Amino acid sequence: MDLYRKKIVVANWKMNLSLEEGEALVREIMQGTSGNLSCEVVVAPPFTHLTRLKEITDGSQVHIAAQNCHFEPSGAFTGEVSAMMLKSLGIDYVIVGHSERRHFFHETNEIVKLKVDAILAAGLKPIFCCGEPAEIRDTETQNIFVRMQLEESLFHLSEAALKNICIAYEPIWAIGTGLTASPEQVQEMHMYIRDQVVTRYNKIVGEEIRILYGGSIKPDNAKSLFTQEDVDGGLVGGSSLNGPGFIEVINAACG
Ligand code: PGA
Repeated sequence: MDLYRKKIVVANWKMNLSLEEGEALVREIMQGTSGNLSCEVVVAPPFTHLTRLKEITDGSQVHIAAQNCHFEPSGAFTGEVSAMMLKSLGIDYVIVGHSERRHFFHETNEIVKLKVDAILAAGLKPIFCCGEPAEIRDTETQNIFVRMQLEESLFHLSEAALKNICIAYEPIWAIGTGLTASPEQVQEMHMYIRDQVVTRYNKIVGEEIRILYGGSIKPDNAKSLFTQEDVDGGLVGGSSLNGPGFIEVINAACG
């Protein structure tokens, strides 16, 4: 069985950078990643920057993702953007279920499920975020918590559909806090998630699905996380806003 999973590093810019700053940063990333890359690089800027950054990166090794979308294809949803609209820009991925969306915008597992379906229906690839808050980790019930997120938002999918998903494990207590989960904690959860996929689907799907880690990834801890057996890359927030630092993180995954 071919166990090769191409690593993927995703920059989550969140609500940061003007268009001008975003253009400059993406050019820096393109320059830093020219040559033969053994991993996939994705940048998720705010909606307003997507068209321009897609133009700039066309033909390069940098892919563009959106950070969110609505689950309806169109309609009276002021301020929202649909997966179909994102598809018409020619982008590849959409982040879905990020903990900040769950927390600040009250997205439930049910809403995340509808969004996953909409993203797939539009022909795009979801980067599905899951992960537990600190109080769940404190009671050592993180496995049950994450399993519920997988069951309620992902495991209704067919095997063929699930193959288009990247799972990002992002423990909430490690996001933007500077507190990184230890490589052992990360490996333990990634192995658990992969086991859940094997149990629900089969060994081949489990071996093929990419599971990324997110939460205070930095140039100095990236390598120790990315070398864990079940870690197939990262979703990077703060460190992705700095060109040289993000390129170091990419190199840690590609190396
Ligand atoms: P962080 O964010 O790297 O700043 O912790 C990660 C994320 O929220 O995706």
